[in-house]
Amino acid sequence: MVKKDKFYVTTPIYYPNDEPHVGSAYTTIAADILARWHRLLGEEVFFLTGTDEHGQKIAESAQKAGLTPQAFVDKMTAKFKEAFSMLNISNNNFIRTTDKNHELEVKRILQELYDKKFIYKGHYEAHYCVACEQYLTASELVNNKCPRHPNREPELRKEETYMFKLSSFGKKLKALISKGELKIMPEVRRKEILNFLDEGLQDISISRLKSKVSWGVELPFDKNHTCYVWVDAFWNYISGLGDKKNFDKFWPVDVQLMAKDIIRVHATIWPALLLALGYELPKTLFVHGYFTINGMKMSKSLGNVISPIDLVNKYGSDSVRYYVMRNIPFGSDGDVSEKGLVSRHNGELANKFGNLVSRVSALAEKCEVDNNIDVDLENIKEEFTLFMNEFKFDQALGTAFSFIDTLNQWVQDKKIWETGNGKDLYELESGIRLVTILLWSFMPQTCEKIAETFGFNISLKDLDSKLKINKKVKKSSILFEKVEFKEEELKFSGKKVIVSKSMKDLSCSIAEIKGVSVVNKNSSLERMKKEAFQSLSFDNVKKTIRSYDYLLGDKDKGSEGLSSENLWNYVIKNKKLPNINTLTDAYNLMSFKTGLIMGAYDTRKVSADINIRESDGSENFVPIGSSDKNPVKIHKGEYLVVDDSNKVITRWLTKQHDDVAVNKSTNGVIVCIQGNKDIKKSDVDEVMIDTCKLITSICGGEFKILY
Ligand code: MSP
Repeated sequence: MVKKDKFYVTTPIYYPNDEPHVGSAYTTIAADILARWHRLLGEEVFFLTGTDEHGQKIAESAQKAGLTPQAFVDKMTAKFKEAFSMLNISNNNFIRTTDKNHELEVKRILQELYDKKFIYKGHYEAHYCVACEQYLTASELVNNKCPRHPNREPELRKEETYMFKLSSFGKKLKALISKGELKIMPEVRRKEILNFLDEGLQDISISRLKSKVSWGVELPFDKNHTCYVWVDAFWNYISGLGDKKNFDKFWPVDVQLMAKDIIRVHATIWPALLLALGYELPKTLFVHGYFTINGMKMSKSLGNVISPIDLVNKYGSDSVRYYVMRNIPFGSDGDVSEKGLVSRHNGELANKFGNLVSRVSALAEKCEVDNNIDVDLENIKEEFTLFMNEFKFDQALGTAFSFIDTLNQWVQDKKIWETGNGKDLYELESGIRLVTILLWSFMPQTCEKIAETFGFNISLKDLDSKLKINKKVKKSSILFEKVEFKEEELKFSGKKVIVSKSMKDLSCSIAEIKGVSVVNKNSSLERMKKEAFQSLSFDNVKKTIRSYDYLLGDKDKGSEGLSSENLWNYVIKNKKLPNINTLTDAYNLMSFKTGLIMGAYDTRKVSADINIRESDGSENFVPIGSSDKNPVKIHKGEYLVVDDSNKVITRWLTKQHDDVAVNKSTNGVIVCIQGNKDIKKSDVDEVMIDTCKLITSICGGEFKILY
């Protein structure tokens, strides 16, 4: 039976093991926009979000926080609720997997699956990543580690467990997904899942011994086991509807949103559970992209986690909602930054939308409006609707904002302040009404204010009738205050350089540059690289390169050759200097011109002070470009630049540690120039100053000589 005029949308339920970040806010904002849009279309909507509160990871986080698991999830879930309420999220229910009703429901289905023989007792042996709360297949492991959490050793689990017969559902799922009865969007994700299904599904373990993981729902047929978090979690989508009446009205769910990290389990275990229990399947699983912050994965250790609460406090919820939806095409990966948010807030919301409303309301306060005309704006509504139906939120916003541009142009062209033309004013007000109603799902607070100012309702139906202006319009207050973005001042890291006595006869220089921005190419740097190649004069440089030779004796047996010589050989063979990124290219250019060995290392990856000393044979070295990332042996007595964690930043004369390489997210570097005993320290220092000047002229920033 096809149920019309209803819309059920869900987000994943989030692990409350940490405070909410913009990642969880993103999916929830998208779901809210869909929910509001369908309410606007006149449908009865159920919108569910919540938290996934059981499992080992949560229990561990609680322990670290010195709280019981229940007290811990109570505290953290309150933060999710607070963040969502600040973002104006209009969910109908907030489900927690520790809700008693939910736990009872999970026990009910476990018993039913057991009675129907979909669950059997067995043994299981596999690698499990606690950070993902997922098993890893042999093909997923990279160097025996989880590809997403290489710092956390996966656990090899071999224990008595209850298994779910997932393997019996592979064929059926493949057929349903191929036919589009279970729709997976976008297309790349559907293909990915079909390929995954072709590998064949294995039965999965659905329980842990209670003695190992006690923070979970107890199996109703064996009190010594607790239920695997995902089976417990999936059922939220049904238990969260609350009662049978809602279930009858809203099931099957229309759209389930998530990112790519959890589509596999959602496209296999989840529908398999439903099939086993005789439930209808979800209609659409929509997989949006994953986003990074300033080009980097969001992570606590990098200190770049953005709290949605902070953003809302600074810029208001509508700006945050608008920015994340406008900036990243829904379904693709993307990047967000506070700077980007401010730029759209000022440039699009304040200057375009806010300004339009302020100018037109000011005109309406002064002039008489004449509504004796028909204004046809149907095509804009149609285009916007089409994009919304295809989840192309950024393009829907594009349509609305290019119409805002048109309206601003009308204001400019029609000069109503001179003509007092009431018909023109009416056209403008009708335009504002249209755009406000369309944008309401994205920016409810602002749009409601505008509707109040002009005296219309937020209703798509009303759009079909003429705008009735029956109240005196007053100039609107400012909708979006412009904000100034203050880039947090980047400080020098305060690192010191300590040179061991035995190295004193080797001249070298070390500097720090802060506040650089690295890109692929820069035209004036490219010009300089070309010129350097054309005026190639080997003799001088060769002398410098050769004067390192004595160092390659016994001490640097492990070295693979001089880096400045390798650079020369590359240039001669390829007839150009390498193109890596603007910062690396800049110091390579200097190294090429002088024959001196140089390197630049991402400051964030260099911990504390820098030591230049001989190797004691215990250091950890992973050469740049190392594909297997396994440390290689350093010979005792080799000359090294090492940081305080004993990580080799660079092996004298040759390669640098893979981890410290410069990339586009680098905002500061340590620059090293390695002299030798034939070159005076003052000469190396001079080259260092020229090198830092070149780098900062291309990449920006300020430098400081450390040694
Ligand atoms: N608890 C499970 C889901 C169970 S659903 C039955 C879980 N939780 S989670 O807290 O890790 O949330 C993952 C989801 O958060 C992603 O699928 C995505 O919706 C959202 N995101 C988390 N970080 C994100 C980004 N950096 N970018 C985009 N989405 C983000 O997995």
